Amino acid sequence: MSAEKKKRKDKPFGIDLYKNKSTFNWLVVSLAVVIGAGSIIYTRNLVEALKEREQQLIELYAKTVEYTANEPNAADLTFVIQEIMLPNNSIPVILADGSGRPLQGKNLDMDPNLMGDQRLSFLRERMKEMEEEKEPLMLTFRDEEGEVYDYNYVYYENSALLKKLEYYPHVQLSVIAIFGLIVLLAFNYSKAAEQNRVWVGLAKETAHQLGTPISSLIAWIEYLKTDVELENNEVVTELEKDIHRLEMITARFSNIGSVPVLDNENVVQCIEETVNYLKKRLSKKVDINVEAKPCDIRAKLNKPLFGWVIENLCKNAVDSMGGIGKIDIRISHGMEDRVVVDICDTGKGIPKSKIRDVFVPGYTTKKRGWGLGLTLVKRIVDHYHEGRIYVKYSEIERGTTFRILLKS
Ligand SMILES: Nc1ncnc2c1ncn2[C@@H]1O[C@H](COP(=O)(O)OP(=O)(O)OP(=O)(O)O)[C@@H](O)[C@H]1O
Ligand SMILES: [Mg+2]
Repeated sequence: MSAEKKKRKDKPFGIDLYKNKSTFNWLVVSLAVVIGAGSIIYTRNLVEALKEREQQLIELYAKTVEYTANEPNAADLTFVIQEIMLPNNSIPVILADGSGRPLQGKNLDMDPNLMGDQRLSFLRERMKEMEEEKEPLMLTFRDEEGEVYDYNYVYYENSALLKKLEYYPHVQLSVIAIFGLIVLLAFNYSKAAEQNRVWVGLAKETAHQLGTPISSLIAWIEYLKTDVELENNEVVTELEKDIHRLEMITARFSNIGSVPVLDNENVVQCIEETVNYLKKRLSKKVDINVEAKPCDIRAKLNKPLFGWVIENLCKNAVDSMGGIGKIDIRISHGMEDRVVVDICDTGKGIPKSKIRDVFVPGYTTKKRGWGLGLTLVKRIVDHYHEGRIYVKYSEIERGTTFRILLKS
């Protein structure tokens, strides 16, 4: 089996789950956009068709009034106007004479008790509003010789139904957007809760399982030490160190599987301890420096977990430098009582477009990577220490700086 194939086979199924999650998010968003766009186009067509019909109706009304007035044999004008206006029970319309004085109107939502001047000023006000929306139609009245002797005007506007329909897509879109948002939030929340349970459960179980063999190993060491010949034996000393390390790993898993206790710790000392441990195990060509001003900077820390953070960040830094280079860890007091820890390397850097991806579970560019190191780091910093971690600087072939902000 080729290395690549083996690696793919080894990958946890959870990683596909995360990929599916973003596919699902996109699916909901695309569906909401398609439904939204479809409904807007459909309603817009409906509105256009209705507008055209209303326009035709009002023009027919205007022409009939004009014709009736110009035709000497036509029936009584008022009667015809009423008859034609009667079927129109939605379009607001006002008929005015040549001087702009309102004669009569329909569908105006007017108080029937309004009389005289009050009625007139109400109609004038409405005429103004209508004029802003639609150009009034002019009716020309001619006498028997064809001479123009008067004008009338038809003021009108879109019906209430049409106005409502114009707003309708906006309401509909807002409803769809709210619906989409609720679905996404619910889905992501349940996924996050599921992830939490997996993290916590797995960590607790690992700590629990490691506990028994470690206790047994400690007992064995104690037994070996009772032998005078083995008491100061190098092998026993090394074994003891390894057991100590195993205890530390168990402490990490057990802390991540429960609510960790945060103590007021010296960040500088904690980082130095981790770095000293790492120095022995990392390539000699990597130079790790810890700088701190002052040298006692305190923050609320869970030592085993924070050590894990520094270890992961340093390992990534070493990987990015191909085993040769320099890591500077700078610790200082920041704004708002924060403690700032910068981890700078001289590695190959992260492309700008990938900076957001480095914390996503499963994102890796390494042959043997799981893409979980930074996810764990972020979880420890954000979740357990209520701090923040982000890529402060990264330049291809120049290096990367990760910044951690802790509560002091
Ligand atoms: N200091 C760094 N310089 C350049 N790239 C980095 C650095 N730290 C992380 N990365 C990029 O981010 C990716 C994700 O890092 P992460 O630690 O999450 O996973 P990993 O190191 O690939 O695998 P593992 O789960 O074993 O840690 C890396 O594969 C690498 O491409
Ligand atoms: Mg890593």
